[in-house]
Amino acid sequence: MQLSEVSALVTGGAQGMGRVFTQAFRDAGAKVAFCDVNAEGVAEAAEALGVPGFVADVSDEAAVEALIGQAAEALGGLNVLVNNAGITRDGLLVKKDRATGALRTMPLDRWNQVLAVNLTGPFLCTRAFAVRCIEQGVTDAVVVNMSSISRAGNMGQGNYSATKAGLAADTVVWAKELSRYGIRVGAIAPGFIRTPMVEAMRPEVLEKVIAPVPLRRLGEPEEIWAAVRFIVECGYFTGRVVDVDGGLRL
Ligand SMILES: NC(=O)c1ccc[n+]([C@@H]2O[C@H](COP(=O)([O-])OP(=O)(O)OC[C@H]3O[C@@H](n4cnc5c(N)ncnc54)[C@H](O)[C@@H]3O)[C@@H](O)[C@H]2O)c1
Repeated sequence: MQLSEVSALVTGGAQGMGRVFTQAFRDAGAKVAFCDVNAEGVAEAAEALGVPGFVADVSDEAAVEALIGQAAEALGGLNVLVNNAGITRDGLLVKKDRATGALRTMPLDRWNQVLAVNLTGPFLCTRAFAVRCIEQGVTDAVVVNMSSISRAGNMGQGNYSATKAGLAADTVVWAKELSRYGIRVGAIAPGFIRTPMVEAMRPEVLEKVIAPVPLRRLGEPEEIWAAVRFIVECGYFTGRVVDVDGGLRL
């Protein structure tokens, strides 16, 4: 698919990589809209980028059903979905306090929040997107899922790693199920990328994160955009994950 033929919806587009993807689609001549749960962020980004922005929580079924219709209407069609919205709520499964011996555990709500946004969100968005494509007779469409290097299993990220591994698995499932309708599904597994999510880390943690990266630096959001672009443009790509991680293995 040529970028000039794209009508894309990017989830979580108010900041970070989603915002870079939205701007890059726009700059490449595609039609693009984004959504985000952060209403202030949506207003600011829609104004700054000059593209339609919608306030929507990707884990809310009714909101997602409405969003797909609204985005398609605003763009005059929809043939690309980027499931980018994601959150972290890190913590160990169980941790023993050195001084007191007390045990702290990962709260259930932290587990559930991450599953809702990172896994249920892409499920709801992809389902609504696929239904619309099939109903409207769109026979060339693409879904891009944002998995993560953490899908291999990252200490302190039991909830996040589960969602990103699950999303990589469902990339394969959805690619198999949707190919008959002309919908391709690919995923990207970024390493550590310079976005607010990563810049929120303490400097000493960030240093430890970068040390084992063969390329010895964080990735830039524009380098992940190159993978989004590849998945959209390469008609023979489906059901696979592109690793863009500076060579790091967790
Ligand atoms: N930054 C990294 O190093 C890195 C690495 C691997 C994977 N990822 C993944 O890439 C994606 C983007 O990451 P980022 O670093 O740009 O994150 P970010 O935190 O900078 O931006 C995420 C955006 O998603 C929005 N969002 C959160 N919950 C939402 C919801 N329920 N509905 C709609 N929008 C919601 C946030 O408001 C925010 O604008 C995420 O899926 C993340 O897990 C990031």
